[in-house]
Amino acid sequence: MYQNVKRVLISKEQIAKRNKELGAQISEDYKDKELLMVCILKGSSVFFADLIREITIPVKLDFMSISSYGNGAKSSGEVKVIKDLDSRVEGKHVIIVEDIVDSGYTLSYLTKMLKARNPASLKVCSLLDKPSRREVEFKADYVGFEIENEFVIGYGLDYAQIYRNLPEVCILDPKVYS
Ligand code: PRP
Repeated sequence: MYQNVKRVLISKEQIAKRNKELGAQISEDYKDKELLMVCILKGSSVFFADLIREITIPVKLDFMSISSYGNGAKSSGEVKVIKDLDSRVEGKHVIIVEDIVDSGYTLSYLTKMLKARNPASLKVCSLLDKPSRREVEFKADYVGFEIENEFVIGYGLDYAQIYRNLPEVCILDPKVYS
């Protein structure tokens, strides 16, 4: 799998350390609240699994599967819900967990959609943030790492649906897609 990796960008150790910090911060921020953590499939699955185990207060979990429309429609920021949440979010404290904020379209659409369901609060935790790629204003509440504009794979992130099981965040060798 590493034959198409240009280099490791964020090591297992760096990820584990940051997850501990994020978990501690979330545990403190929600210590007297009931928290629902929402995993956005598939990219955030690995981060989600690690992050929830760094949280020391009781949490409930739910999962949502979405896909972006084609390029044309992406400029409208619309995403298609493949699998919606099982739980009702009305009156609940919700954190959406994502792997990356890139153009910002997905999360600005998702947060609008879930806010319309009247949660008590709604925040976003993203492992990665690529602010240089932003096309629509969006700021996550919790961010693991801010990164440059490189094609990243691993730790849940894919290229053509593979590499999600690499344990580090890696930069894909541009020869693969150019
Ligand atoms: C990725 C990522 C975010 C979105 C971010 O999902 O998980 O949902 O793209 O990009 P944006 O800020 O430009 O909208 P992807 O569609 O690759 O699906 P996946 O999670 O199944 O890999």
